[in-house]
Amino acid sequence: NEIKIFSPATVANVACGFDVLGFCLDSVGDEMVIRKTDKKGIFITKIEGGFDLPYQAELNVAGVSALALYEAAKPDCGFEIEINKKIKPGSGIGSSAASAVGSVFGMNELLGRPFNKTQLTEFAIKGEALASKCEHADNLAPALFGGFTLVKSISPLEILEIPSPDDLYVTIIHPQIEIKTSEARAILPKEVPLIDAITQWANFGSLIHALHTGDFGLIQRSLNDVIVEPYRSQLIPHYNKVKTEALKAGALGAGISGSGPSIFSLSKGIENAKNVKDAMKKVYSNTEIDFDIHVSKIN
Ligand code: HSE
Repeated sequence: NEIKIFSPATVANVACGFDVLGFCLDSVGDEMVIRKTDKKGIFITKIEGGFDLPYQAELNVAGVSALALYEAAKPDCGFEIEINKKIKPGSGIGSSAASAVGSVFGMNELLGRPFNKTQLTEFAIKGEALASKCEHADNLAPALFGGFTLVKSISPLEILEIPSPDDLYVTIIHPQIEIKTSEARAILPKEVPLIDAITQWANFGSLIHALHTGDFGLIQRSLNDVIVEPYRSQLIPHYNKVKTEALKAGALGAGISGSGPSIFSLSKGIENAKNVKDAMKKVYSNTEIDFDIHVSKIN
């Protein structure tokens, strides 16, 4: 009647895949407990982690996605949700997605899995939309499916699981400033020059091919973003320096994680990822900005 779950952090966009590509981290995430109750309804009973998040289900990301599943399943019970929030809201590693996914994943398990992962993503989109003011699933899908995912379309929702080489690691640094996804979206242009679109889809197609074939050289040559990064990087202090140092230390590529401010870099093997960690860390260590940094396998 109760399930305890780990709801993982995720990196969306992955440089050239704005709003469609994402991957899942295996060592950073929220903990949640979902419990069946006799009393009908969705009740958020505990929020830990020191963030000021609403208890009212209709105003809480985990609550909104839970309500979407609840209305579809119409079960003869209710659910309590406890959230131990470990992913800081506004950090750019899918904090709202982890909450939105955790509640529906847990409820589905307790109900005997009436819904598949794509259907769970549909419910979770409702929660995610509360936080980012638009419906996108590039953090939700990897949190539910694991590994790399490609959201081929939102309506109808179609998610592709993309394989990736075994020894691909991510180093992710979170400078402690908050960037709201809605604001980071508002600064983006509504139209892009054809020449940039061509570069972007060439890189994106190449990255997908490289992930399938385990071609690290091609991963390296494909991790570029000519459309979104020029705008959003201006919101992140020392972004260019962090990226340059990561590349110098041997990263395959680096970019903004989701809507920022976290910056991710990909490396072949854990040793490289640790060297990149030291290099990225050094940049912020010489500034006033606090940060935390993780190395994780993509899983
Ligand atoms: N694709 C989204 C964005 C992810 O970059 O705005 C952030 O949640």
